[in-house]
Amino acid sequence: MTTYIFSQLVLNWYHNNGRKNLPWQKNKSLYIVWISEIMLQQTQVKSVIPYFKKFILTFPNIKSINDSTLDELLHLWSGLGYYRRAVNIYKTAKIIEREFQGVFPTKFLDVIKLPGIGRSTAGAILSLSLNFFYPILDGNVKRILIRYYGIVGTLQNKIIEKKLWNIIELITPIHNTGKFNQAIMDIGAIICTHKKPKCKICPLQEKCITKLEKKWEKYPLKNIKKICLKKISWFVVIKFKNSFWMQKNIKKKIWKNLFTFPTFETEILALNWLKEKKINITKYERMTSFIHKFSHFNLQVYPVLIKISYNSKFYKENNTGLWYNLKMPQNIGLPKPVQVILESFKKNTLKKKEN
Ligand code: ADE
Ligand code: SF4
Repeated sequence: MTTYIFSQLVLNWYHNNGRKNLPWQKNKSLYIVWISEIMLQQTQVKSVIPYFKKFILTFPNIKSINDSTLDELLHLWSGLGYYRRAVNIYKTAKIIEREFQGVFPTKFLDVIKLPGIGRSTAGAILSLSLNFFYPILDGNVKRILIRYYGIVGTLQNKIIEKKLWNIIELITPIHNTGKFNQAIMDIGAIICTHKKPKCKICPLQEKCITKLEKKWEKYPLKNIKKICLKKISWFVVIKFKNSFWMQKNIKKKIWKNLFTFPTFETEILALNWLKEKKINITKYERMTSFIHKFSHFNLQVYPVLIKISYNSKFYKENNTGLWYNLKMPQNIGLPKPVQVILESFKKNTLKKKEN
């Protein structure tokens, strides 16, 4: 009985209030839904929309991904974060070409084996595009269930997760699975938000334990491990005319495969590196520091601007680096803080032209 009520309430809500005109909801295909679901992992709809549109224009199908380089793909992903997702899309496209004749698979067991696709994303792809009966359980859905049923535990707890999968399997309707899954994700994103849930407009409010108990702080419990650390990075911004020296992050865990300015934990290390390279510095200037937020820590960025006179030795060495030309930018992946710094130079260049 309660399972029927839950899904009916959610479906009715979808009928009247659900989002039906998002860019990935038009001309739906497995390809379109796959790309959008990967982009929507841990990222809000409004941030995804412009990236999705650009991505589909450049890569309208799997073949177009296979015809390009990883750098080109990362270029379009620059600023969206969680860059491993782009690498996984690149790998998946190759696998689909090799093992599935270039056509996105429709069998759950094939889909779930693809890089970056777990049980929930596989379920979302197949239910949203083909209306197959597979439940989903992303962070939003977990939060709704924990609140609705008054489950005591954190979002990260594996035992709770198992319990939540059992519940969502029971309440997901066999018909209209796609609509139900879209609706429950929307309710999680728009109404049952992490902070200040809007219970007054929630279709589930009448039987929701959290609402009835008025104990929003209790559900879900906070993960005590998630303390907010602060890290520091010094960016050595080496400028020569309109170009900036960039290096590809090969081994690093964050921003792997993306290009950044040479980066150091302290200013001393940065200075030592410059000395080692025997770079002929004509200007050294500390730029404005700023914070870049990651999910698990904040990064305090200290950029320093270095102007150099031509240094042939520096040009030739280091085959993982390149001179990024602001006027003829290469198609490479750049993390948000690097983009922000480059933007500030772009503005200055424009101003100079106007004057
Ligand atoms: N999060 C993950 N997938 C989503 C979707 N299809 N709509 C809204 N939020 C989502
Ligand atoms: Fe979330 Fe409030 Fe709806 Fe309960 S009533 S599911 S707490 S928004």
